[in-house]
Amino acid sequence: MNQLDKIVALCKRRGFVYQSAEIYGGLNGVYDFGPLGTLLKRNIRDAWVQSIFTTQNNILFLEGALLGSHAMWEASGHTQNFSDPLVDCTNCKRRFRADEIDLEKVCTVCGKKAWTDIRQFQLMFQTQVGAATDSSSIAYLRPETAQSIFVQFKNIMSTNRVKIPFGIAQIGKAFRNEITPKQFLFRMREFEQMELEWFCKPEKVDEYFPLWVKSREQFYEHLGINKQHIKLREHDKKELAHYSARTTDIEYEFPFGWKELEGIADRGNFDLKQHSKHSGKDLSVYDDETKQSYIPHVIECSVGVDRLFLTLLCDAYTEDTIDGEKRTVLKFSSKIAPIKAAFLPLVKKLSDPIHTIYQTIAGRGYMVEFDESGSIGKRYRRQDEIGTPLCFTYDFESADDNCITVRNRDTTKQERISIEKIEEYIQASLA
Ligand code: GAP
Repeated sequence: MNQLDKIVALCKRRGFVYQSAEIYGGLNGVYDFGPLGTLLKRNIRDAWVQSIFTTQNNILFLEGALLGSHAMWEASGHTQNFSDPLVDCTNCKRRFRADEIDLEKVCTVCGKKAWTDIRQFQLMFQTQVGAATDSSSIAYLRPETAQSIFVQFKNIMSTNRVKIPFGIAQIGKAFRNEITPKQFLFRMREFEQMELEWFCKPEKVDEYFPLWVKSREQFYEHLGINKQHIKLREHDKKELAHYSARTTDIEYEFPFGWKELEGIADRGNFDLKQHSKHSGKDLSVYDDETKQSYIPHVIECSVGVDRLFLTLLCDAYTEDTIDGEKRTVLKFSSKIAPIKAAFLPLVKKLSDPIHTIYQTIAGRGYMVEFDESGSIGKRYRRQDEIGTPLCFTYDFESADDNCITVRNRDTTKQERISIEKIEEYIQASLA
């Protein structure tokens, strides 16, 4: 089994991620997140929000609709440009993204060379809104969260006390009918984005762009991702998206190679200009200093929650041998670990006192677990596999010395601390 297959298996075994509608054979490129996956996603979102605020504090949030009108996606350029090159093998009928295979060679599935011409495949999911089925009822599931930020830009500015420069951020679902969804959560058909659009004066773009790149890099460091597996890559002119004047990707070295984790783009004033033109509404702002109106420029930072989820799993996944026994560990940083600590009685008959301690800590808002079933070794292994940084074990001496043993997930070293110090200990690990 390769590392990605092992991660997929662990995700299912421990309740992080399930194939959507698995009992019906699954839906390709669509996943459900289980109890632990839900907690991990929540920690990712919280960490992202915190990180953008520590870079700039004048940021507002939006929760835009998932469905968007034809007019909106026409103006944004997506109906015309948001496509991937598609090619079919006429022999085995498989479909491929033409930019991902060598058309000079035979089909990797059937070994024949029988390619169709390349054609552009629209990635947006189209649907019909309402009972009428004419062209006016066409709508799309959004392929990026950014557009609702642009179309609500004027409303947000006029109903909130903000001045350029400021940011609008959004976390939410996006949908793309990817030709070949693959590599688990890397390329999905339904996924979640965290996007920040930073509006500034055109002459300030060169100042803010590197600032955001730096801040985004620091975010991944803060999440505990190995620096060796992160690098920046500037887009060539010919690979730039239709809206972008400049893009820097933050890439991660996945088990299947270096790939984009986050894109930071200078979108210029492309989007606001397009929406101004198509809607007939003035989206410019007035500059008190120059006494002139202008359309703000935008720097965008965009990362997928799910892609970051996969990145964190790949980075944390470790197999090691402790005292001759093999184990699998997710070495998550405490900040994003779904469960911060586990409370375990050494044997079942010691359950009551440690259950009371567990309830006290849980009641103070910590995401913690209590587990009394199976041998203590087995329970440690389970916590290692889900990335719990600390295990507190109540043993036969605990009632007498009012102390508990705390085990560190990564080193497996144990130390004895006073029961009163448990919360302090957890706090220190989260700092
Ligand atoms: N608004 C800009 C935009 O959407 P993008 O590079 O197409 O740019 C931004 O997407 C981020 O969204 C990517 O860096 C990636 O993290 C995530 N993403 C894009 N497509 C995805 C997919 N099919 N599955 C999972 N995540 C995806």
